Amino acid sequence: LTELTFPTRVDAALEGAQGLLLLAPARRWKDGWARRALGNVPWRALVDLACTGVEPGRRGRSVGTLNPGSGPTRIVVGSLPDVVSRHNSPSRADAVAAMAQSADVGEGRACVIACVEAPEHALPLALAVARGRPSFTMMTDPSRKRPARSLAFLAVDAEGRPVPLSPAARGVVARMRWAASLVDTPPQMMDTALFEQAVRREAKGMAGVRVTSIVGDALLARRLGGIHAVGRAAAVPPRLQLVEYAPRGARRRIGLVGKGVVYDTGGLALKGREHLVSMKCDMAGAAAVAAAALSLAAARHADAVVAALPLAENAIGPDSYRNDDILTMHSGKTVEINNTDAEGRLLLADGVSFLARERDVDVVIDAATLTGAQSIATGIRHAAVVSNREGLEELAIRAGRESGDLTFPLPFAPELFQDEFRSKVADMKNSVANRANAQSSCAAQFVYAHVEDLDVPWLHVDLAGPAFRDERATGFGVGLLTAVARGITADVLEA
Ligand code: BES
Ligand code: MN
Ligand code: MN
Repeated sequence: LTELTFPTRVDAALEGAQGLLLLAPARRWKDGWARRALGNVPWRALVDLACTGVEPGRRGRSVGTLNPGSGPTRIVVGSLPDVVSRHNSPSRADAVAAMAQSADVGEGRACVIACVEAPEHALPLALAVARGRPSFTMMTDPSRKRPARSLAFLAVDAEGRPVPLSPAARGVVARMRWAASLVDTPPQMMDTALFEQAVRREAKGMAGVRVTSIVGDALLARRLGGIHAVGRAAAVPPRLQLVEYAPRGARRRIGLVGKGVVYDTGGLALKGREHLVSMKCDMAGAAAVAAAALSLAAARHADAVVAALPLAENAIGPDSYRNDDILTMHSGKTVEINNTDAEGRLLLADGVSFLARERDVDVVIDAATLTGAQSIATGIRHAAVVSNREGLEELAIRAGRESGDLTFPLPFAPELFQDEFRSKVADMKNSVANRANAQSSCAAQFVYAHVEDLDVPWLHVDLAGPAFRDERATGFGVGLLTAVARGITADVLEA
């Protein structure tokens, strides 16, 4: 487990560093950035040696010293691309993430210093570096290669001046790692009750934050029929956990909903063997929402935030909900179940309806590992977003490029897709007739159908692909959701 530190000065970052990784766009290497950033360190010549001939977008040479007393024993330079595509993050977070491991010298102290073209790039780069240092492990073999014991990260501008991370930004990084560790934790250690406890522990002592939950059959009394049905067969009961942050004089209330399926077997519509593997990731939306809400509360965000975390295990048992069951949802609408594996939308539908009707939120944002089709549509790097407001959709794209948690929009057109959900005996089915017709848009639209009557500004984030990569949680969504929340204005909600 690597301890991450965010020093505010170059000399402090270099203090005791055995491995040093220097990152800068190719043209900054040419214009002498390293000299401005590092000043007169005795091992300057080594940096010059390392960066000669370094190619744009490539990792440069690694240079070792024989004199460990006077500086890092290993210096690696990385050249970041000069140009970044329109739909990528201008921070170059992807290139930084790809190279960040090369700072490590065994278990020694590592240091990453990165040149940023704008001060707001420091946070996405810190997130990228932190992402490569996951905090969950149950490995016991001491002979396995260990990551650096500690890693210092510092952004420096083109003039060589440090760009320190604000306390709020450091909070986002720490909670991103926390969210990822919840997702990485194996399902036998992360049932609905343990998830709830983890959130309570994280929220403990935070001023203005209230955590409550509605558990088991109490869900039915509160008309949360979707959450109850999905989770009722599991050994540990389903619940709706609420994390509410209410600062004095708040102008508006932001609602967040995160899909918290602690394990998705598919239910009676059981998934196949290959598709079960990795389904511990199905609470990544809830983890991201909890982390974002707590980050906003810790930073004393001016708007109130209400996070709703519907938590359920989609399990098989005598009490499982069935294909052919008809549920009455929180919205009052009835849903004929034709696929128990399309469970996430039932949790989200109850969550958004609850926030819109019982908490009177001014905007509702949901985040979920909702559809496998999402990564077909927008890929494993961009989450798919759907919204009933153009302003919110644009904010989501902007916040994605700003945070490094990229997004790309899918169509919002309920009248064109509603036939997919047509039922002969209920208001709708829960899964589409034609899975080749904009499946991720349709899933989003199912959620929207449960707040449609209220015309509340709504943004949906399907992060099924980006949340989990290479058998590891990415913490995707924490940076995005905090950036979206911070970007909400009256104009955004109007448009
Ligand atoms: N949790 C899955 C979606 C998922 C798939 C997340 C792969 C991450 C990786 C969701 O509950 C699900 O099963 N979706 C189905 C929907 C279908 C039944 C309409 C899917 O994507 O196949
Ligand atoms: Mn499912
Ligand atoms: Mn699921």
